Amino acid sequence: MEKIKSVKAREILDSRGNPTVEVEITLDSGIKARSDVPSGVSTGTYEALELRDNDRQRYKGKGVLKATANVHNIIAPKITGMEINENLDAPGKFDEMMLNLDGTENKSKLGANAILGVSMAIAKVSAMSLNLPLYKYFNRDSKILPVPMMNILNGGTHANWQSTDFQEFMIVPWGAKNFAESLRYGAEIYHELKGLLKAKNFSTSVGDEGGFVVNVKSNEEPINLIIKAIENAGYEYYKDVGIGLDVAASGFYKDKDGKYELTRENLRLTSDEMIEKYEYLIKGYKILSVEDGLAEDDWEGWQKMNKKIGNKVTLIGDDLFVTNIERLERGIKEKSANAVLIKLNQIGTVSETMSAVNLAHKTNWKTIISHRSGETADTFIADFCVGMNIKLIKTGAPCRSERVEKYNQLIRIEEELGNKREFAGKEAFK
Ligand code: PGA
Ligand code: ZN
Repeated sequence: MEKIKSVKAREILDSRGNPTVEVEITLDSGIKARSDVPSGVSTGTYEALELRDNDRQRYKGKGVLKATANVHNIIAPKITGMEINENLDAPGKFDEMMLNLDGTENKSKLGANAILGVSMAIAKVSAMSLNLPLYKYFNRDSKILPVPMMNILNGGTHANWQSTDFQEFMIVPWGAKNFAESLRYGAEIYHELKGLLKAKNFSTSVGDEGGFVVNVKSNEEPINLIIKAIENAGYEYYKDVGIGLDVAASGFYKDKDGKYELTRENLRLTSDEMIEKYEYLIKGYKILSVEDGLAEDDWEGWQKMNKKIGNKVTLIGDDLFVTNIERLERGIKEKSANAVLIKLNQIGTVSETMSAVNLAHKTNWKTIISHRSGETADTFIADFCVGMNIKLIKTGAPCRSERVEKYNQLIRIEEELGNKREFAGKEAFK
């Protein structure tokens, strides 16, 4: 059985030019793997803690040298020499050990960025030592390719509030026959949209996730633009390609009077009025999914929303659940939503992320794996998605290589699976 020879952490940059943690693990045999930790900006309050140095002299306080030091000084001495897993049950024993070393609720001692870097690298070297591709490490029988949810118009904080209040407008090519085709649909529509925006004298510059940043007057206007782009590309709206939204409502929820402030439309809405707005959009445009339609503490509103529209649309909790099993359990009990967004760095270990996915699937909730707005070239989520039987993936527009690399990895996996492969297609929303 192979042992861990060395654990090295380093400070690298993410796609926004901010520091993040990379961990490199080497085994006795010479097998070596690296993992990079992503970083969000419209983060949920209840996420595990991303440890930053707060030293204003470096990277405006965003350095991660404390986190890399924690890997070197606290985690590495414990796990060097340990045997890596022979079985396929993920990096369980390492994660448990790191949770014990940290000892806090939200990983604030070691930092979720330090812990997750190690956790993902362990999964990678374990797979390599078993001679398995990473997706098969999570399940040898994995065969389902996800439908991409491609964020082609960026708003909210991902566009510095120079675009819509709603954060993400995603195209969902669910009518394609396989993953590679769905990606082709998406890329063609993206280019059509670019042409359309240019013709209308809108800017075609892109936001953090590669979608266009457009100075429109409402949160509805992009839906019409995108439908036009879908049709211009030769596809039938809804039948071939649908639309999903990430409203990221915590970003414009005003605590002091409990109102949602839609600056683009000069509106201040209550929870009930927001729900009415979604009802209107779902009815008018057959929207497939609404993520974070309400704020992360508005449990009552979520319950109401799910009761009213949960049978017509996929309601995804991101900031609401933060991939945290306790928050997810509460949501399941209170029937707050019917789907959960999965982000490894919201919770900080691979095994806790797996538990959240498994709980959701057991409850017949949909799961969507997600990148962060600050990303790296690491394609871990592509493999994790297939391995965990997650049928939807959001990893940005078909633009900016930190986004496209994940999609490209899915093309490789699809090819490798050959005849065995299945494409989630419309089943992903059932
Ligand atoms: P974030 O946004 O990575 O900036 O948190 C992504 C999302 O809200 O889904
Ligand atoms: Zn979100």
